[in-house]
Amino acid sequence: MALPFDIRPHAEPVSAAERAGRMADPGFGRVFTDHMAVIRWSEAAGWHDPHVTARAPLQMDPASSVLHYAQEIFEGMKAYRLADGGTALFRPTANARRFRDSARRMAMPELPEALFVEAVERLVAIDRDWVPAAGVDGSLYLRPFQIASEVFLGVKPSTEYLFMVIASTVGGYWKGGARAISTWVSRDYSRAAPGGTGAAKCGGNYAASLVAQQQAIARGCDQVVFLDAVERRWVEELGGMNLFFVFDDGSIATPPLTGTILPGITRDSLLTLARDQGLVVREEPYAIDRWRADAVSGRLAEAFACGTAAVVTTIGEVVDGDDRFTVGGGVEGPVTTALRAALVAIQRGAAPDPHGWLHRLA
Ligand SMILES: Cc1ncc(COP(=O)(O)O)c(C=O)c1O
Repeated sequence: MALPFDIRPHAEPVSAAERAGRMADPGFGRVFTDHMAVIRWSEAAGWHDPHVTARAPLQMDPASSVLHYAQEIFEGMKAYRLADGGTALFRPTANARRFRDSARRMAMPELPEALFVEAVERLVAIDRDWVPAAGVDGSLYLRPFQIASEVFLGVKPSTEYLFMVIASTVGGYWKGGARAISTWVSRDYSRAAPGGTGAAKCGGNYAASLVAQQQAIARGCDQVVFLDAVERRWVEELGGMNLFFVFDDGSIATPPLTGTILPGITRDSLLTLARDQGLVVREEPYAIDRWRADAVSGRLAEAFACGTAAVVTTIGEVVDGDDRFTVGGGVEGPVTTALRAALVAIQRGAAPDPHGWLHRLA
């Protein structure tokens, strides 16, 4: 099924001087490009009307189903400027596959992976000038998403959907630059439960996590750590990043994908790179009490969080109620540094790509 994209360039794109000004210190998720990609779905026509057009506000009926029942999914991925001047995506088919998995969980139609990737490619191609130069920390963050657009207040899967991709020039994720972060262990709130939507990238998961994140901030921490919802004992993930633990015997571990955490593409890539580096890798449950005991004894040498937006971020301190402990003296350790370096080198085209992860744009 070939669905040709209709490319409708912006009549008045941002000038080069204005764009350079906005890209100078973009922060995260506030500077947007000139265009957006759109594909529609209806029961009668299936996927249709793929196009790229000027980025503009949506007109929505206030009874649109997504506004009431949150039938919505999204992805997060990046386009990088390479050392040789080219542009590339990192493992876009992995995002396309996860998007389909999320759609299935939310009773939404699954966008074919090729169409997902083409929509992203077309948007990056037309907004290529918004991808920061090689050698700086920045990238073009891409946000594909799909919303239920049927105008109906009944609780049921929508009969119409809108798939879109928008793009945002981003610098580093952390205000004030990368550093070791502190995490707050949420004992009051769960992110996901067995049978729930934890493994899907749906907006509702994030809405539900915000109050716990607010608590973390109120306690002086950067991020919240969620525990499993059943025993409230097993460490799962942060609000938007997966977790890794590095032990003094040279092994690393990360919580297994049991359906309540997001299967991160950074997580999967780091597992592979760690094996490439000769580390012993385990996907196994890790209890919060063990985390504390291992950090105190020194058996746990490093801990870090990972995801597309913040890449690899050291966890230096953990606060659990009135108790607090540091990991690895509160500073980044060598295994974390080496894994980040290996990942970033592939993403930026500065190292060989033995796993075929880099998806160069023509
Ligand atoms: C809840 C959650 N966990 C983990 C991740 C990391 O996933 P990825 O590495 O694919 O960005 C994200 C980010 O998208 C997330 O939102």
